[in-house]
Amino acid sequence: MKHDRNILPAIEVRALSKTFTLHLRGSQRLPVLQGFEMEVYPGECVALVGASGQGKSTLMKCLYGSYGCEQGRVVLRAGHDSVDLASASPRQVLHWRRRGISYVSQFLRAVPRVGALDVVAERLLEDLPPDGTDALDDARYAQQAAAAREQACTLLARLNLPSALWELPPATFSGGEQQRVNIARGFVKPTPVLLLDEPTASLDAANRRIVVQLIAEAKARGAAVVGIFHDEEVRDTVATRQVGFA
Ligand SMILES: Nc1ncnc2c1ncn2[C@@H]1O[C@H](COP(=O)(O)OP(=O)(O)OP(=O)(O)O)[C@@H](O)[C@H]1O
Ligand SMILES: [Mg+2]
Repeated sequence: MKHDRNILPAIEVRALSKTFTLHLRGSQRLPVLQGFEMEVYPGECVALVGASGQGKSTLMKCLYGSYGCEQGRVVLRAGHDSVDLASASPRQVLHWRRRGISYVSQFLRAVPRVGALDVVAERLLEDLPPDGTDALDDARYAQQAAAAREQACTLLARLNLPSALWELPPATFSGGEQQRVNIARGFVKPTPVLLLDEPTASLDAANRRIVVQLIAEAKARGAAVVGIFHDEEVRDTVATRQVGFA
């Protein structure tokens, strides 16, 4: 794909090295990424492909700022703002996650007692000051919260999650139901970077098609998407490019 010279990549990984030190095994060192390079432009979907254990999920966690790395840069850009997640402070990482990065992990980390609808809607409320603070009065907060729940309803309905489940905590949901809550949470806020780790693994064909549509819409609005898709049909449909791990 040709890119406008004036457009910078939304994700730029340079000379990235990540080694795990196994403290329970006499500090044995496991090099996973060595001098890894990649760039992803707005509107692209890059699929990470390669055998199991080659470091795809590890790279994904570096792109989300979960893992530090001993060498290299992981630069994200949004508008005039940019960050190097490899050297960013925890506060900067959190700031970027709220506004700039959406991550659909393979499994939902359900929060006890929070219903599915709020798991999704909360993602839209993260940037607001908490209820009752001076910066945002109660009425205004309630209005924003209602709008967020409305958006969450629309997406959960689109993903065919039965409305009887919306107010229930997802901990007891089936694998596919949990995955759809996870996907809704990942897609509800339009961020410049979208990370997808096996987003369709537990879904039936109809819901896989919805996710494929959601990814196409994210690309069309200019998101830089990085995904791991073991389903080759899904991968071939959504990926604009593949990056191999060997
Ligand atoms: N937190 C960790 N501590 C120690 N080793 C780890 C850690 N995370 C991953 N590894 C090791 O790093 C290597 C790469 O793991 P990773 O999960 O990135 O692989 P993957 O390419 O995503 O594989 P799969 O396709 O099976 O999901 C593996 O050998 C794994 O055992
Ligand atoms: Mg993996």
